[in-house]
This record gives sequence, C-alpha cells and structure tokens, in this order.
Amino acid sequence: MNDTTQLTGLTLQEKASLTSGRDFWNTKGVERVGIEPMLLTDGPHGVRNQRPGEQLNLADSVPATCFPPAAGLANSFDAELIERVGTALGVEAAAQNVAVLLGPGINIKRSPLCGRNFEYFSEDPVLTGVLGEAWVRGLQSRGVGASLKHFAANNQETDRMRVSSDVDERTLREIYLRGFQRVIQRAAPWTVMCSYNRINGIPVSENPWLLTTVLRDEWGFDGVVMSDWGAVGDRVKALIAGLDLEMPTSGGRTDRQIVAAVEAGELDQAILDTAATRMLRLGDRTTNGTAAEVHSFDADEHHALAREAASRSVVLLKNDGDLLPLNRDQSLAIIGAFAVTPRYQGAGSSLINPTRLDDALSEIQRAATGQVTYAPGFVAGGADPARDSALVADAVAAAEASDVAVLFLGLPDEDESEGFDRRHIDLPDSQRDLLDAVVRANPRTVVVLSHGGVVALPFADRVPAILDCWLLGQAGGGATADVLFGAVDPSGRLAETIPLRLSDAPSYLSFPGEFGHVRYSEGIFVGYRGYDARELEVAYPFGHGLSYTTFEYSDASAAVTADGDLQVEVTISNTGRRRGREIVQVYTGLPGSGISRAVRELKAFASVELASGASQKVRLVVDREDLAYWDTRIDAWTVEPGEYRIDVAASSRDVRASVRVAVAGDAVDVPLTLDSSVSEVLAHPGTAGVLEGIIASRGEQGALLTNLFDPTTEIGMLNASFPVGRLTMAGLTEDEIAQLIRS
Ligand code: BGC
Repeated sequence: MNDTTQLTGLTLQEKASLTSGRDFWNTKGVERVGIEPMLLTDGPHGVRNQRPGEQLNLADSVPATCFPPAAGLANSFDAELIERVGTALGVEAAAQNVAVLLGPGINIKRSPLCGRNFEYFSEDPVLTGVLGEAWVRGLQSRGVGASLKHFAANNQETDRMRVSSDVDERTLREIYLRGFQRVIQRAAPWTVMCSYNRINGIPVSENPWLLTTVLRDEWGFDGVVMSDWGAVGDRVKALIAGLDLEMPTSGGRTDRQIVAAVEAGELDQAILDTAATRMLRLGDRTTNGTAAEVHSFDADEHHALAREAASRSVVLLKNDGDLLPLNRDQSLAIIGAFAVTPRYQGAGSSLINPTRLDDALSEIQRAATGQVTYAPGFVAGGADPARDSALVADAVAAAEASDVAVLFLGLPDEDESEGFDRRHIDLPDSQRDLLDAVVRANPRTVVVLSHGGVVALPFADRVPAILDCWLLGQAGGGATADVLFGAVDPSGRLAETIPLRLSDAPSYLSFPGEFGHVRYSEGIFVGYRGYDARELEVAYPFGHGLSYTTFEYSDASAAVTADGDLQVEVTISNTGRRRGREIVQVYTGLPGSGISRAVRELKAFASVELASGASQKVRLVVDREDLAYWDTRIDAWTVEPGEYRIDVAASSRDVRASVRVAVAGDAVDVPLTLDSSVSEVLAHPGTAGVLEGIIASRGEQGALLTNLFDPTTEIGMLNASFPVGRLTMAGLTEDEIAQLIRS
C-alpha cells in the first residue's frame, strides 16, 4: 500500500521515476520502500489487458466482455444501465489487477467523419456528461480508476498528434469542456488523460490553463493527469503545466531531464513533489478499494448484461405498417454477411478480445419457428468489395421466397478506426445495390445497420423498417434478435443526428482543417444545435427512436425550485398494446435571448418503462447551472434572466408539450468604461438615477438628452451602439460621462 507520506523518504531520482511509465502499460514502483507499479489498460467498452511484449498486436489481449462501444450504449439514454456496465467493467478490471481502465472517451462528435466517433457518446454535452458520470461511478465503485479522455477538444483523427483545435472560449466551455466538467465534479475520476492535439496553438500536454487553472483550480480535480500515449513533447514544461504521468515509458530519458532541471534550478522541486504525491495517492486509491477482493468474474452474467445493454442501444428508425416485431412463424430471408460475421466494435486501441461472440443469424434461428434462409449477399471484408452477382442472385431468391427479408448492412471494418477520419458517410455501393435488388424482390424488407460513425440513408423512403444498431458489442447478435422479435421493446434514441447529406453537417466547411489548424467555425452550433439553427431537414433527428408501442404526454409543467433548479413534470401514458420504454427528453430555449443561442438544448432525460395502458408522472430536474452560458465579458457561467421555453419531447424535433417558466438571472457586473456602448450604460442598474440628474441639470435643454438616451426614439436607436466616451460630441461633458460610467 502506498502512502503519500512516503514522499519524504524518496530521492529526487525516485520521485522523478514515478512520473513516467515503466513500460507500455505499467507505472514504475519503488521497490526499496514498497511502492508498487500500477497496471493501466485500455478500454473503454471492455478490458484490453495485453499480454507482456505484445503491445503492437492489438487483438491479442486477455479475453474480456466486449460491451457495446459508446456510440451504441449512448443511445440507451440511461445512466442507471451505464452505471451497471461501468461496475461490470470494474469487476473485470479488478480481477486482472488493473489499477486504471483507460476510459471513458467523452469527446463531442463534432463531425460525422471523425474516425473515432464510435468510441464517443454524443454530439451533446449534457448527454455525454450524464452518461460519462454514470460510467465512472460504476467503474470506480469496484476500486478501479477511470481515465477520462481525451482532454480536450480532440475531435478528429487527422493530424491528431499536432493539429491545433482553434476554438473560442465560449464554445470550448459550453460544448467541448462541459461534459468533462460534469464528470469531474460529480464522479471524481481518479485520472484524466490529456489529448495529443493543441488548443489555440498550445499543446494540451503543456497547457497550464487547461491542466491546472481549469481542471484543478476551477473544477477541483485532485487526481492524476496522464498523457495520451506519446503526447509529451517537452517533459519539464508538461510537468509544470500539470501533467503528472507521462505514458508510456521514455526509457528513463525524461526522468533524467526532470532531475537535471531541478538540479539546475530550472524546475521548482515542489512541482515534482506535487506530481509524485498525486501518483502515490492514486496508488492509495487503487489498493485501498474493493479491487483487492475481486479475483474473478462471471463471464455468463457479464455476457447477459452485455446483451441487455445492447438491446437497449438499438434504435428503431422507422417501422411502416408495423412490419416489426417479426412473428416467430414467418418465413425469413436473413441477408448480409454481417448477420454471421458481426460488426460489433471499432478498430484501434479499444479493440477487445471478446469472451464470446453472438451472431444474429444463430440467434434468429434459435428464436424463429418458421423457415429461415440465409444468403450472405456480399463479402464482409474489404472497404468496398465489388458487387458479387452470384451472391446478389442468391439473396434475391431468398427474399422472394420468404415472408420478410431482414437485410444486415453496415460499414466495413476498414472504414472506421482510431488514427484516421472517414471521407464520406456512405455505405459501400455494393451494399446499396444489394439493397435495391432485395427490396425489388420483397418490399417487406427490414434493414439492420451496423456502424460506429453515422451513415447516410438515401434509401430510407424505400424500405418500410430500419433498425439502427450502431455497434453493439459481443452480445449484439442476441440483442438484435430480441428486438426483431419483440422480446425487448426498442428504446434506443439517437445520440447523434443522422443528416441527409454530409455537407449539411455544421462543421462541414472546416473539417479537418489544414496546415496544422482546424477552426471550430460553427461555434456552439454543433450537431442538432446547428441543424436546428439553420432550419435544415435531417434524415432522423437527435433523440429520435420509435417503440413498438405509443406514448402520450400530458400535464406538463415546470417550476423553479428553492435551489434555483427547474423541476419539470409530465405524465407519460403507454397508449399502445405492448409494454414499452419511452425516453422523455427536456430541452430548453430562451426566445429573445440577448446572446446567440441554439433553438433548443437538451438538459434532462429519463427512461420510463410502462405496461400497456399504464401512466406515470415523471419528474425531471434541469440544473440551474445547465441553463448558464459562458459569458466572455466576465469569464464566468451566467444564467440570463427571462421566460425560458421548456420543451418536453420525444426527440429534438418531436416536441410533445411546451411550457414557459420565468427564471431570475445572475447578476452580471461588467465594469463600464469609456468604450461601453450607450445601450450597455443604460442596462447598468445605477445609470438611470445619474442620467436623470444630468438631464435635470440641463433645464429645458434636457429634452434633447432624454431623446438621445431613449432607445425607442430614432436618435436613441441610432445612438445605442455609440461608445459613451465619444458623447462629448453630443454635448455631454467629460465629467458627466465619468459620472455615468462610475454609476
Ligand atoms: C489512444 C488512447 C489509448 C492509448 C493507449 C492512444 O493512442 O489515443 O485512447 O488509451 O493510445 O493505448
């Protein structure tokens, strides 16, 4: 067991040695005083514990449950479920003596093209934050540390080790840091992983503002900041900025740099002591928790949880004529190689070697009582294999001879991975040709999609039913069968908008940048915020997903609580004939806001399961802090006063009830200067009295000034943006102006 008081017994060299890896996956211990090394392994959706010496063979890790990757899991909109997944991950990690599991990845999906979107939750910061918080809480409850990554603004893979994300502070705070802030303040992860990229020109690993001012001073983070693997350029600068642990090993080279810098008086030893103390504290946390008592896990139980989580991640995009759920005795043509060789996770450092792997065909065969015919339709390997006419002909024959065709399509493995971005969002041509042929042969076709990044659905109008499975992990085959036959009601909702065209995406014109810079020129208008602001049609909106039953919303109300939060209530009734689960979503907007804002923003959500005919009153809380915007005038979160619109909705574009609630604003004290505009001066609480005094002192001439400062008069409107310091030209004296800005 480590003890932070051990620091005093360590030599300078030993302290430095604690701040970098021993090898690819372990930290260093100090045997002399009993400090143990710690094992860090990849996740996030499973434990990827690589066998020693095998770090370049990503696929060869100790078998572990492969839960749905974040792109799937997020569709559950269910923190309770995700906390259970996090707990199971903690058990598996603890059983393998893992001290820190490197996840969750909570970067915002800025562009549909980001090659790593399958590892991230959403385009929305509140959804991301709530789900990330649950994941961390679950994991750490088993004595295993999380590593919240990749901090921050790492939203693309192109040039990921160098590119500068050039982003204004309001956007950074409200969109890209918001989820991190929430998870850190509410779930206290033991570590944070800093990203490779730069922000506004400064490498994240050397950025004291991000790693110390924001992360520690503002948010209260007390854990270890580790580098992403190879993210450190200048080790001493990084240490000073707040980066405690460099990973993986530098072979001792950078430890020596630290020692030399201390000896030369270039690095304050207190900074090294702080980083070493944090490493000791991490050791304390990982050895004192429940991890020590966990020696094994129940693979069957975890597979069952993986299946439950996967079935809750499936999104039913459309279901014309109630083609789904399938009847067990219908004859089925199961078409598409992914029914047998599933696409269930993405490539790169998160690749899990699953304990077992369900395929949809076997699970469908198990559940069905009617005839099931399988035809591969296309070859699973290769980015876009040529159309194989014989395979298509077999598929058409199977579709013609069956009551219903179930067509498994998706992105080839090769299309999406850590390390590069996609160039398009289309399914391979060969698959789209196959779809045309199958739909012609049997219009009763259900399309089942597997993909990590969003895909365009130009065929959506031509097929009656689409089940969007994203990536479902090792139990996805069973989960898909559960939803197809209605054993589970589909309750997944889109955590990312499906656009009609890639070029509609808000970041389209500035992704992935060039010459080492990517400008986040869409600002806060990321994802649905951007599609809504530009009133663009989308294929399927954020938050969308159907159920096999129907729900009605009634009696919506909203009120401000004593704490200043908003309490929203609504009654949800299951008006259909089946049991089902609804995801109730609360969005807010502020019509007439003085700042640029999204039309609506997700602030709360709840997952409600109801029997047919049942009703339930659902209570959701919108935290006051989530109403705030980042005010760049005063560098602070600020709630603007006004009548907020509260949309209780089944998706970002399916508002079922809208209520208004008056919210008192935060006091904003922006000091007035000679450069403040007349309207800013007028908005200041103390101005009116001073102005009245000045006007009164002018006697009859005062009327002129009254007009000048009245925003409803023509001259007043003209004058509103005038810097008050220049009003000497309108006859105010310097002394009067000084009185106004002192008010
Ligand atoms: C990835 C991290 C990962 C690390 C260790 C990096 O390339 O960006 O997400 O945890 O490697 O494999």
